[in-house]
Parts: sequence; structure tokens; C-alpha cells
Amino acid sequence: GGSRDGRPPAGGRAPEPADQARPMPVLREEHGRLRRRILAGRREQVDRQHSLGKRTARERLDLLLDEGSFVEVDIYRRHRAHTLGMAEQRPHTDGVVAGSGTIGGRRVFVYAQDFTVFGGSLGEAHAEKIHKVMDLAVENGAPLIGINDSGGARIQEGVMSLDGYGGIFRRNVQASGVVPQISVILGPCAGGAAYSPALADFTFMVRDVARMYLTGPDVVRAVTGQEVGHDELGGADVHGRRTGVAAFVHDDEESCLEDVRYLVSLLPGNNMEPSPALPPCGATTDVRPRLPEIVPVEASKPYDMRTVLAEIVDDGEFLEVYEGWARNVVCALGRVDGEVVGAVGNQPMVLAGVLDADAAQKAARFVRFCDAFGIPLVTLVDVPGFLPGTDQEHAGIIRHGAKLLYAYCEATVPRVQVIVRKAYGGAYIVMDSRSIGGDLSLAWPTNEIAVMGAEGAVNVIHRRELAAANDPDGLRSELVAEYTAQLMHPYFAAERGLVDDVIDPADTRAAVARGLAMLRNKRRQPPPRKHGNIPL
Ligand code: HXC
Repeated sequence: GGSRDGRPPAGGRAPEPADQARPMPVLREEHGRLRRRILAGRREQVDRQHSLGKRTARERLDLLLDEGSFVEVDIYRRHRAHTLGMAEQRPHTDGVVAGSGTIGGRRVFVYAQDFTVFGGSLGEAHAEKIHKVMDLAVENGAPLIGINDSGGARIQEGVMSLDGYGGIFRRNVQASGVVPQISVILGPCAGGAAYSPALADFTFMVRDVARMYLTGPDVVRAVTGQEVGHDELGGADVHGRRTGVAAFVHDDEESCLEDVRYLVSLLPGNNMEPSPALPPCGATTDVRPRLPEIVPVEASKPYDMRTVLAEIVDDGEFLEVYEGWARNVVCALGRVDGEVVGAVGNQPMVLAGVLDADAAQKAARFVRFCDAFGIPLVTLVDVPGFLPGTDQEHAGIIRHGAKLLYAYCEATVPRVQVIVRKAYGGAYIVMDSRSIGGDLSLAWPTNEIAVMGAEGAVNVIHRRELAAANDPDGLRSELVAEYTAQLMHPYFAAERGLVDDVIDPADTRAAVARGLAMLRNKRRQPPPRKHGNIPL
């Protein structure tokens, strides 16, 4: 074999066996040449990838992993298909670079699809390489990171490609809750291929590069007559803001992969391992004088719950997930006194912080992730209730709200609730109240905790008196004052054991840190069952 200049053709062909053993220097030279060619890739394809503003699979792994840490598996793997002329084209790697490396010194398993080989399309060998690193990730208890850039099922390999995808999905599900799974979309990810990212714990997308949909614009046009562009149909912002498929959206590959590293630094390798803690930093006595100033006493005045969170976590630093989707609830990973925590907070700045179907799903998924990986929960409550209206009722707010309720009820990790301002009705219960298994409930003195607001309550329980009164407005304000004095403060709940402590707002960080320290060795064993039946 070999082309006219004596080199193996592009894509590489293994050196032919000789009749006689050849000298070591020759073998090493041949081996080095083949390897360099595989590592470099096909020139014009690499140039094309760069011209699309994309990096190659190996360049991406270089950005993601600690320098020099990458251990590659199956570099010489090639397909053995012979349909539709495939036997003529058998590039090494088969379009995916797979193996393991470290991030901040901690082990991860990775694969990166290589669009320069068969458009990153997935055939049998390609799929088996992915299966292999997925199995290694689980066996070694380390996170799995998949970089997707692919034309989808390799058409020439027929149903073997579909079988390969099925094997990935099954492994995604078996690894769920065992090792963290991160999916990074840096190119097309279409058709059934989109289900692996959908099954992962966190999906990253990069604007103008990533696109994800079940059927592309051509099929949409053919079937529905609708004209729609790639980005409008399934670009990063669509999934980051509307569908909730992407937990993180970035402008470029560098910042995206940098954030993957940050995320990994906050996660345990597996569900049996503690999260990576830093040494305690004095949080248990840290007074934060800004906290009482951030939150207005008037129950309906907006503020940014993230500024409250920044006062509670170490160095004011946290990683927000689903920042652009269901913004009325905030979910973030951060640290308190060195320990990783998951924070869930109502966001009074968006829709007054009400819970709606999207917010409930977002928070539910996050709570379940934290619980699966032993990450304690800190819930910051300031919620007027669920969003009223036919839109929400008909969208199934009952079913979706039940997911959040289910997630909290099921969670066995340490759970600290801070009622920052108001907590009404069903939303109070759902936001990790003591009644559904919260371990420690802390309230600010300004709290309004009740079944409903004073006006509404008075109109219901005094309907008849108000209708018969000569001065209904005067009577109403008297009754409102009575209701407020008796029920609308945290001491009513605290006297009854539903709030453990009413704290000075400035002490919130310290109180949360002390509460988490108290709960550090919490163990709660749920009774055996196959699995619950969460309302999906
Ligand atoms: C085999 C593929 C391929 C595929 C791309 N290529 N997709 N080869 N199977 N699915 C090859 C091309 O032939 C080309 O080879 C090279 O990859 C680069 O592709 P281009 O089309 O030149 O690139 P670009 O213009 O950037 O377009 C990228 C693309 C387009 C949008 C992804 O290639 C495309 O639409 N591909 C088909 C997508 C598709 O229908 N996939 C199957 C869907 S079904 P050469 O040799 O010319 O460089 C599916 C379901 C999964 O995936 C089911 C799981 C359950």
C-alpha cells in the first residue's frame, strides 16, 4: 500500500508486515510517522474546522485537561465496515478521541468527537470507543465529559450506528447518579444524538457553533413548510433560555471549557466520594453587615437573590446553572466554609420570584443532582406562591410543581432553609420547609410566613362581616392589622418548631455554616424499593 511518495494515504494505513524482521530504528521511524499523521489529522479538514471557528478534538482536550495528563485509548481503532465504499476509507481513531486525563489534578474520563473524520459521525467502532470510556468512568468512579461535534449516525454503517447510540444512552442512564456526566456541544448534535446530552447532568453549548435538534431545518421545511434557521431552531440561546436543555451557554470554546473545569472542581468523582472540600475559612463567625441592607422590608420590592447568595458563600463565588432559563429561581453551586453546597433561591427580580412550571422543573432537577452526589442544600426562600393563570394550570403546574416537592421530600443530604423575607402557602411547603424534611430552618425577623397574604386572608374568613359592615374598608384594615399581628411573623412558626431560629440577617452566613457543620455526618437510609414514581 501507500501513495506515490511512499507514505500511507491520508488517514493512515498501518505499515505492512515484512517477511523479515526490520531493524528497530526503521520500525520506530515508521511508527513515529504514522502516529504524527494521526495526531495531526487531515490538513484540509483541519483547516476547514478552523475556518468554521471551531477547534479540533485534540485542541479541545488540550484546553480541557491538565497539561500532559491525557491518556488516550484506542487511537488506532478503525471501522471494519465495507458497505457503500467504506472499505476504501479507514481512518484511524474512527472520528472520536477518547481516554482520560486530570482537571486540577482530579481524574476524569473524556471523549471528543472529531468532525474532521467522517464529520464526526458515529459508527460501530466510534460508538464502542465511547462505550469503553463510559465504562471506565463508572469503574473508576470519575466524571465523564463528552464533547459532541458530529453529523450524527454514520449513514454508511446503517443500523449498527443506531445500536451504538442505544449503547451510549443505556450507559448514560446506568451512570446517572453514580458519576457526574457533563456534555459539551461544540458543533452539530442532531437527531437521536441529542438524547445523550439530554440524559447528562449538565450540558454546555457555545453560541454560533453548537446546535441541537431532533429534526433539522430541511426536515422541518419538508414536513411543516416552516422556514427556520439552525440557530433559531436549536442554537445555544434557544436551549439556554427556552427549553432548559443547556445548563451553560458560552460565547467561545475557551471560556466554555474553562467553566467545565470550574464545574468539575466543585463535584465529587462519584456518589460514594465526598465533594472536594477546601480548608474551613472562618465562615461560622463571619458577620455580613450588608445582608440586612440588600433585602427591602417591603414584601413586594424586588432585589437580586444572587447578591444574598454571594454574601453567604465563600469569597462571594458561585457557579450558577441554567442562568438563562426559568430565571425566577436561582440554582448554583458554591462553597460554605470550604464545603461544596447547592443553593436554590427564589428570585424576586424575575416574575416577583413566583414558582411556575419551568422553575419547578429546573429546581427539581438541581435538587436531585445534589442529593444524588451528596451535596448539601441551602434553600433561600422569598416566594409569594405559585404563578396563577390558565397558561400555568394548563401547562401542568400541578404535575411540574410536584416534581420539586418530590425532589425535596426524597433528598437525604443536609438541608438548611433560610426564609429571607416571605413564604406563602404551597410554595412555602415546597421550598424545603421542615414539614418535607428540611433539617434546619432559619428565619429573619422580618419574615411573613403564612397561608396567604393579609388582605386575601381577611376577605376569605370575614366575607360575611365585611359584606354587612357600614364601613367595610375601616373594618378590613382592623382585621388586616389583627391577622398581621397574630400570624404574619416568624415567631408564630418558631414557637411551633417549624422555624428553628430567628436570626439577625447579618449572621446568616455564620448560621448557615454552623448548621451545615452540625449536619455534616447526617445519614438517613430510605426504606428499600425499586424506585419511586416521580411525576414526570
Ligand atoms: C456519514 C457524514 C455524516 C453522517 C456528515 N458526514 N454527516 N458521513 N454519516 N451522518 C460527512 C460528510 O459526508 C462529509 O464527508 C463530512 O462528514 C463533513 O460533512 P459536510 O456536510 O461537508 O459538513 P457541513 O456542511 O458542515 O454539514 C454538517 C452537517 C451535515 C449539517 C452535520 O453533514 C449533515 O446534515 N449531515 C447529515 C446529518 C444526518 O442526517 N445525520 C443522520 C441523522 S439521523 P466528506 O468526505 O465530504 O468530508 C441521526 C439519528 C441518530 O443521527 C439516532 C440515534 C438514535
